[in-house]
Amino acid sequence: MSVMEIKKMGDPVLKQVCKPVDRISKKIKTLIDNMAETMYKNEGVGIAAPQVGVPIRVIVVDVGEHRYDIINPVIVETEGSIIDSEGCLSFPGVYGEVERAEKVKVEYTNRFGKQKYIEADGLLARCLQHEIDHLNGQLFIEIAKSLTSSKNKEES
Ligand code: CO
Repeated sequence: MSVMEIKKMGDPVLKQVCKPVDRISKKIKTLIDNMAETMYKNEGVGIAAPQVGVPIRVIVVDVGEHRYDIINPVIVETEGSIIDSEGCLSFPGVYGEVERAEKVKVEYTNRFGKQKYIEADGLLARCLQHEIDHLNGQLFIEIAKSLTSSKNKEES
């Protein structure tokens, strides 16, 4: 595994609509492992493939309980709405108050090609929505109600 370079604010790859994965090759699995290592190294709670320069629909999320390797995610249900602070590995030190669904159900394919679901609330729900936005070229700073700079908060 290796740590990859994180693409930062202004890199055009962050604005791309990412392509679905049609075959889970060894290359994709290696990418997922490298994304995870990159996320942990940078103390993030989530990372999307475009953040390491690969515009495909893959995210890795770990808010502290379990690592999810998520391919071709789709939000199939949402409930409620909640405003909270979030950050992003591509915007170090920048935080914003972002309104998100309180609960989500996400359908996805895991690294073994199995169709799976996650039902999430709290930080996991927020992180899933943030990462799925990345796959559509949507950045949290574009939808934040306010932005601040500080340190030592979760970034994804
Ligand atoms: Co992000």
